[in-house]
Amino acid sequence: AGSLLGTLQIEERFAPPRDWTREMFKTQEEAHPGVAAYLSAGGVALAGPIEWMGDGSALQLDGNWHTPIETRAEFTRRGWRRIAGFQTRNPIHRAHEYVLRTTLEVTDGLLLHPLVGETRPEDLPADLRLRCYQVLLDNYLPSSRILFSVLPAWMRYAGPREAVLHALVRKNFGCTHFIVGRDHAGVGNYYGPFDAHRLLESLAGDGLGIQPLFFGEVYYCRRCGSLASERSCGHGPEERLTLSGTEVRRRLREGLPLPVEFTRPEVAAVLAEAFRPKKEVTHG
Ligand code: ADX
Repeated sequence: AGSLLGTLQIEERFAPPRDWTREMFKTQEEAHPGVAAYLSAGGVALAGPIEWMGDGSALQLDGNWHTPIETRAEFTRRGWRRIAGFQTRNPIHRAHEYVLRTTLEVTDGLLLHPLVGETRPEDLPADLRLRCYQVLLDNYLPSSRILFSVLPAWMRYAGPREAVLHALVRKNFGCTHFIVGRDHAGVGNYYGPFDAHRLLESLAGDGLGIQPLFFGEVYYCRRCGSLASERSCGHGPEERLTLSGTEVRRRLREGLPLPVEFTRPEVAAVLAEAFRPKKEVTHG
C-alpha cells in the first residue's frame, strides 16, 4: 500500500453488463465465486494501456517473483527451448507431481508457477502452498530443471476460459507449452472435467501461440502400484485412489493422515503442522 506500481492510461470507462457472466463463467449464479467477485467489483470498468514501474518488492509477495522479461532471460541463460508452464492454486499432491515429472521427461525445463493472488477462503493460503512446493523441490524433484516463481493474480474460477487466460499469461512468461489437466481452474460442478481441453484445442489454429499439454485424470492405481491415468493404466476404477480437494481439507481439519499414495510424507507433515495450531488459535 502507498507505493506506485504503475499507471493505467484511461481510454475507456463503462459499466460491465451483469449478464457478461454468462459468457465468462457459463453461469449467472452468485454462488459461483467468480460471478460473485464480478458482481461485487463496483460496477465500473476502466481500460487502457498499462505501464509497470518495475518495483515488485512493493507487492510483498511470498516466494520469488520474476517478471516475464526475467523468466525469458533465465530460460535463455539455461539454454532451455521447450519450456512447460504449470499453473496451480492447491498444495502439491502426487497427481500434480506425476504431471510435472511426465512433462519433465519431454521438455528442457519447467516453470513452476503457482498463483498467489486472491483465492477462495476455502483454498489454502499461498505461503503454505509454497512451502509444500519447496519441500518437494528439496526432496524429490531436480530443481536445476525447474524455475520456481509465483504469479500474483486472482483466481476467477472460470474453468475453460481461465485455462486459456492461464496459457496466454505463461506464453508471455516465455513458455512454449502449458499443462492442462482435469478440471483446470474449475470450481464445484460448473464445468466438465475436460471442457478446458476442448476449448484450447478449438483455439489451437487461431494463433494461441503456446502448445497445451493435456493430461487425463491422474490417480494412484493399486494394481500398478504407481500414479497413472487411463491413458497409461488398464485397470478399473475399483483399483483407484483419488481424493478431492474437499476431502483433503476435511482430513486436515480433523487431523487425519493423508495417505502416502496421495501426498508425500514431507508435504503431509507441512500441511498437518499448519493445520493443527491454527485451528486452536482461531477458534480457541
Ligand atoms: S487450478 O485451479 O490451478 O487448475 P490445481 O492447482 O488443482 O487447480 O491444478 C493445477 C493443474 O493440475 C491443472 O492443470 C489441473 O487440471 C491439474 N490437475 C490437478 N489435479 C489433477 C488430477 N488428479 N489429474 C489430472 N490433472 C490434475
